[in-house]
Amino acid sequence: MSEPKKLYIKTYGCQMNVYDSERMSETLGGQGYVETKSPEDADMILLNTCHIREKAAEKVYSELGRFKGLKAEKPDLKIGVAGCVAQAEGEEIMRRQPLVDLVVGPQSYHRLPEMEAKTRTGAKALDTDFPEEDKFEKLKNRPKAKRGPTAFLTVQEGCDKFCAFCVVPYTRGAEVSRPADRIIREAQDLVERGVREITLLGQNVNAYHGAGPNGDMTLAGLIWELNKVDGLERIRFTTSHPNDMADDLIEAHGTCNKLMPYLHLPVQSGSDRILKRMNRSHTAESYLRLIERIRAARPDIVMSGDFIVGFPEETEEDFQATLDLVQEVKYGYAYSFKYSTRPGTPAAERSQVDPDVADDRLQRLQALITQHQREIQDAMVGRKVSVLFEKPGRLAGQMVGKSEYLHSVHVSDADVAVGELRDVRITNSGANSLAGKLI
Ligand code: SAH
Ligand code: SF4
Ligand code: F3S
Repeated sequence: MSEPKKLYIKTYGCQMNVYDSERMSETLGGQGYVETKSPEDADMILLNTCHIREKAAEKVYSELGRFKGLKAEKPDLKIGVAGCVAQAEGEEIMRRQPLVDLVVGPQSYHRLPEMEAKTRTGAKALDTDFPEEDKFEKLKNRPKAKRGPTAFLTVQEGCDKFCAFCVVPYTRGAEVSRPADRIIREAQDLVERGVREITLLGQNVNAYHGAGPNGDMTLAGLIWELNKVDGLERIRFTTSHPNDMADDLIEAHGTCNKLMPYLHLPVQSGSDRILKRMNRSHTAESYLRLIERIRAARPDIVMSGDFIVGFPEETEEDFQATLDLVQEVKYGYAYSFKYSTRPGTPAAERSQVDPDVADDRLQRLQALITQHQREIQDAMVGRKVSVLFEKPGRLAGQMVGKSEYLHSVHVSDADVAVGELRDVRITNSGANSLAGKLI
C-alpha cells in the first residue's frame, strides 16, 4: 500500500474558518490525505486566510514566501490558498506569488478534490465562484473519528449588512442559511463522536432563517430543536448583530436550559454620528436598551463585544461616547481593533484618523475593557459554576475547562476526565483564568 499523502492546513481569522478547515481536511481525506502538523512533511500546504484587516492579508504573503525553500526541495509539493484572501484577490495571488498552485474561495471548498487532481497534472487551479449548491452537504463528514468535547457548526454564512468598513459581504457573499434538518443531523453526529458543546456559527448568526418542517425557522427555533438532542449539554452562538436580536432569542436566554449565559454582540462604536457613518443602522441608545432587555431575561449573562477605534472622522468626543458605552455595559470580554482601511469598502475613501491618535485611543479603550473583564472574573470567586473539562492543564494533575460564562477554569488533583461536566466552586482568580475545586 502506498503511504498516505500529507496535508498541512494553517487557519487564520474567525471561527468560521476553523470550521471550514475541518471540512476541507475531511474532504481531502477522501483523496487519501491525512493531516500533519509540520509543513516540512506535507505534500500539500493550505493556508485558510482572513482579509478582515490589512495585517491579516499581508501575513499570508509573508507566510507563502517562507515555503519557497520547501517547494525547491520537493517539486511535488502543492501550495493552496483558501479563505477570504483567496476570494478577495483570486488570480492576483498567483501573480504575486507564483509558487501558489491552487486558489479556492470559501464557497467552493467542495470542489477541492477536482482542483487538487488538476494541480497534480501540473496545472494551476482557481475557483472563486458563488455556486448555488449547499457546499456543506457535499462536504459531508467522511471519517467518523472521535472528537473533543466542543465543536463549531456553521448554520449561516455571508452578510447583507454592508457596514462601511467591512469586507465580509464581498468575501463571503450574500446571507444564506442552511436547512434546519441538516444542522440537527450534523449536531447528532457530533454528539455521537463525543461532542457535548456546540457553538453555532454565522457572520450574522442571529439572522438565521433556515428551512424547517413548517416554513422558515429562526435561530431561537433552531436552538430549541437542538435543546432536544440527547447528550448535547451546551449551546452557544456567534456572531450576532444587534438589529437581529429577535424577541424569541432574548426569551430563549431566560428559558432554554442548554443555552449558555454568554452573548457576543458587537456594537463597534458608542457614537451615533460614527454608527451612522459605519452604516450600522442602530444607535448607542437602542443597543443599551437591547442589553437591558437581555439582562432582564437572563440577569447573570456575560456580555462580549467588538469595537473599532479611529474610524474615519472619529473625534475625541465620538471616542468618549464609546468609553461611556463600555462603562455602562461592562463587558466580560471585548475585542477592540484599530480601523484598517480595506480597499473597495466605502470608508476607505474617507478622511483617515491620524494613526498615533488611533493608537492612543485603542490603548485607553483596552485599559477600560481589561479593568471590567478583571472585575467580572474576580466576582466569580466563591461562586458555583459548571465546567466542561476540555484538556489537561500545564501542571501535573491539573484539568482545564470552560464555565458557562466562557471563563477558563482549572482544578488540581481532581479525578475528572475530558468531556465531563462538573460543578466547581471558584476559589481564585488569576490573570487569565479561574481556579476552583470540584463540588
Ligand atoms: N460579523 C461579525 C464580525 C465580523 S468581523 C459582526 O458583524 O459583528 C469581526 C470584527 O472585526 C468586527 O466586529 C469589527 O469589530 C472588526 N473589523 C471588521 N472590519 C474591520 C476593519 N476594516 N478595521 C478594523 N476592524 C474591523
Ligand atoms: Fe461585516 Fe457588518 Fe456584516 Fe458584521 S454585520 S460581517 S461587521 S458587514
Ligand atoms: Fe476573516 Fe473572512 Fe472570517 S475576512 S474574519 S476569515 S469571514
